[in-house]
Amino acid sequence: MIEIKNIEKSFNGNKILKGISTVFETGKTNLIIGQSGSGKTVLLKSLLGIHTPESGQICFDGRVYSELEDDEKRELRTEIGMVFQGSALFDSMTVAENVAFPLKMFTKDNRAAVKERVDFVLERVALKDAHDKLPSEISGGMQKRVAIARAIVNRPKYLFCDEPNSGLDPNTATLIDNLIKEITEEYGITTVINTHDMNSVMEIGDNILFLKNGIKAWQGNKDEIFKTDNEDVVAFVYSSNLFRKVREAYLRE
Ligand SMILES: Nc1ncnc2c1ncn2[C@@H]1O[C@H](COP(=O)(O)OP(=O)(O)OP(=O)(O)O)[C@@H](O)[C@H]1O
Ligand SMILES: [Mg+2]
Repeated sequence: MIEIKNIEKSFNGNKILKGISTVFETGKTNLIIGQSGSGKTVLLKSLLGIHTPESGQICFDGRVYSELEDDEKRELRTEIGMVFQGSALFDSMTVAENVAFPLKMFTKDNRAAVKERVDFVLERVALKDAHDKLPSEISGGMQKRVAIARAIVNRPKYLFCDEPNSGLDPNTATLIDNLIKEITEEYGITTVINTHDMNSVMEIGDNILFLKNGIKAWQGNKDEIFKTDNEDVVAFVYSSNLFRKVREAYLRE
């Protein structure tokens, strides 16, 4: 579980996160939605420790990040898996080498143990025949699955994904969403996903945080989002035709 208490983050005197508090529960897919520029990536990077909020607290299962010693921060960092926007695979490494990378960085596992774990996670994301391929030799959806395999290879407690669906066709996007949700539940991970994708909201929105200009404007789950009359959420929802129709159908029931 991750608890955020009143975090604020500015760049050059410009406040981007304006006092956000929330809880992301273990075993849940927590989504952060909101317009471009609303602060989703800044929030995720604050959780990752890439940005340091100037006030507030981020607490990882009882550990307040800003109060940890350097070695405790490093330890916590090894418990986080990250899927970056655009997959961010190493172009010159094979799929298996990409996935093995965190184990080589963060563990003392021997070659046999690394191989066994890499085989296991590649099998889990249905890519067992792709070990020796280069990222350029596989599709965008497969690249995302490699990125997910790499993010979970070191058995993370926390999984952060920045727009894991961008650039994928709707079917592949749904497959990726469902894979992330299954993995989250199977391994009891606290997962936080930034998304623009309304399909994701409908499919896997266990807990949805709606940001507007760096403020938490609304929070709820995928059923509640269709029923709310929060003006900001409704405006956001109505910007998607499909979502609008689903909302109207929900409200008719
Ligand atoms: N390193 C930085 N330095 C200065 N300003 C930044 C930095 N990172 C983000 N910002 C600003 O913070 C605001 C929020 O950006 P952020 O990337 O979090 O938006 P977002 O909600 O992720 O948008 P998108 O949906 O387009 O990815 C933007 O105005 C952006 O210009
Ligand atoms: Mg972003």
